[in-house]
Amino acid sequence: MAFDLVIRNGTVVSASEVLEGCDIGIQDGMVIAIGRDLPITEGVEVIDAEGAYVTPGGVDSHCHLSQYYDPGPGEEQRTQTTDGTIPARYNFSGDDYESGSRSAIAGGTTTIISFAIQFRDDESLRPVVTEYHKLAEDQAYCDYSFHVIVTNPTKTVLEQDLPALVGDFGISSIKIFMTYASAKLSDYQILDVLDTARGLGITTMVHAENADMVDWVTDRLEQNGMVAPHHHGTSRPPLVEAEATNRLVTMAELMNTPVLLVHVSSALATKVIRKAQTRVLPVFGETCPHYLFLMAERMRRNGFEGAKCVCSPPLREDSSDLEAIWHGVQNGTFTTISSDHAPTKYNHSNGKLKGLHGHEPHGKFKHIPNGLPGLETRLPLLFSGGILAGRITPQKFVELTSTNPAKLYGLTKKGAIAPGYDADITIWYPQEKFKPFALDNDMLHHDIDYTPFEGYEFKNWPRYTLLRGKVAFSEGKVIGSMKDGKFVRRSTSQLSTPRAPGKNEWLSLRGNLTSLKN
Ligand code: URP
Ligand code: ZN
Ligand code: ZN
Ligand code: ZN
Repeated sequence: MAFDLVIRNGTVVSASEVLEGCDIGIQDGMVIAIGRDLPITEGVEVIDAEGAYVTPGGVDSHCHLSQYYDPGPGEEQRTQTTDGTIPARYNFSGDDYESGSRSAIAGGTTTIISFAIQFRDDESLRPVVTEYHKLAEDQAYCDYSFHVIVTNPTKTVLEQDLPALVGDFGISSIKIFMTYASAKLSDYQILDVLDTARGLGITTMVHAENADMVDWVTDRLEQNGMVAPHHHGTSRPPLVEAEATNRLVTMAELMNTPVLLVHVSSALATKVIRKAQTRVLPVFGETCPHYLFLMAERMRRNGFEGAKCVCSPPLREDSSDLEAIWHGVQNGTFTTISSDHAPTKYNHSNGKLKGLHGHEPHGKFKHIPNGLPGLETRLPLLFSGGILAGRITPQKFVELTSTNPAKLYGLTKKGAIAPGYDADITIWYPQEKFKPFALDNDMLHHDIDYTPFEGYEFKNWPRYTLLRGKVAFSEGKVIGSMKDGKFVRRSTSQLSTPRAPGKNEWLSLRGNLTSLKN
C-alpha cells in the first residue's frame, strides 16, 4: 500500500471509539487505511501525532457568510449592482467566504454549510443559488455547501425549485424563519413548505421565535424608553422560543416530516424538543457554543458595547437555561452543535453601531444587527470547556461537531476518519505540551473586530487541520489556499428518510412519494 501521507501514533476519535496508538494512511486526499504500524515507504510524508487527539475535521452546518441580515422594516434590501456581478445587497460588514472559511480552517473546521438566502421578491431559488456559487467559488479555504433560506414559497419554488435543489443542485436542506419581518413565513406557508419537503426528503431547519410576541413586547419597551442592547433579551424571553418551537413541532407532526430546530437557547424549548422525541417524532435540535458558555449579562457590559453579544434567540438570563442546554447536549436531545457564525463588525456603519447612531445615548436594540462570530472558536471551546472540563466525552464531541451534521445533511464522505472518507482531519496538541492561553481577537482569522470569547482560557487548539489530505493550517498559520475549498454535493439525510404521506386522506392529495425522483 503506498501512502502520500501517514499520521502516526495518534489517539483517533470517532463518534463511538477512542483508539490509541493509531496510524492513518492517506492517498489522493482520502483515508485508505487505519491501523498500527502502517508501512512507511520512502518519500511518504509523516505527521507525528503521538499523545494527541486526532478528530474528523469539523463540520459546521450553520454559518452565515456574505449574507446580509435582517434589515428592519422599511429598510432597503435590494439595491443596484456595484461592480456588475454581485448586487450591493451583499455589501455588509460581516465575513465573506474568504475570511469566514479561513477562520474555519484555523479552528479545525473543514466543511461549512452556509446559507443562500432568497429575498422576498425572488420568485425562484435558482438565481439565488447561482449567486452564492459566485460568491464562494475560488474563495474558500474549506469545503462548503449551501442551505437555501426560503422566504417566498411561490408555486415555482414549491413545485419546481425544491425538487431541483435535491435532484440537480445537490442541496438537500432549507431554512425557514418564524421571526424577522424580512424573512418570516406564515403558518400556512410553513405547512406548504413542510408538505413539499416531506416527499423530497429535505431537512427543514427552522428558526423558531414568535414574531408577534417579540414585536408586541418591543413596542412596550420602546414606549418606556427601554431600548439599550440588553433589552433585546427582554424582548425575546424563553417563552417566545418555546411557543414557536411547540407550534412548529405540531405542524411537522401534521405534515409527517423531519425538522431541525436551529440555535436552541432555552430550557423550555429544549423540553419541547425532548418531548417530541420521546413521542418518536423526527424532530432534531441544534445548539451553539454561545448558549453553552455565555449569558445575558454580556449585553449589559460597557454601555452600547453590549451590542456585541446581541443574537437571536438571545443569550439567557438564567443559568438554569445554560445547564439545560448542557443536559440536552449530554443526553442526545441535540443532534448538532453549530456556530451560527453570523458576524457583523462592531465599529462599522452597517455593523453593530448601526443600533447606536441616531439613537444616542443608549442606542436602540431593534436596529442592532443580530448575530455573533464563532466559526473559529466552536471546536476549541468545546474541546476546552466540554471534553477537558469533563462535560462531554471525546466521542460526543466528534458526534455533535462532525459526524452527526455530516449524516443529517447528507455529506457522505465527511464526518468520520474511515477508509473511503475524505481525509479531513484535525490534529490537536498533546495535552501535556500545550500552554493554555487567554484568547485575544487578533489571534483569530475572521474579519471581525471582536470576539465574544475574548479572554476565555483555551487549554488546547488545533495544531494541524487537513483538508482532503492537504495540510491547510499548521501551528497557528493558515497555509492552504482559498482555491482549496470545493462545493460539496449532498445526498438526502442519512438520519431520516423521505416519509409516506401519513394517515389523513387529504395528505395523499399531493406530495406523493411515488411522484418523486431520488
Ligand atoms: O442572531 C442570529 N442568529 N443571526 C443570524 C440569523 C439567524 O437567525 O440565524
Ligand atoms: Zn436563525
Ligand atoms: Zn436599560
Ligand atoms: Zn443563523
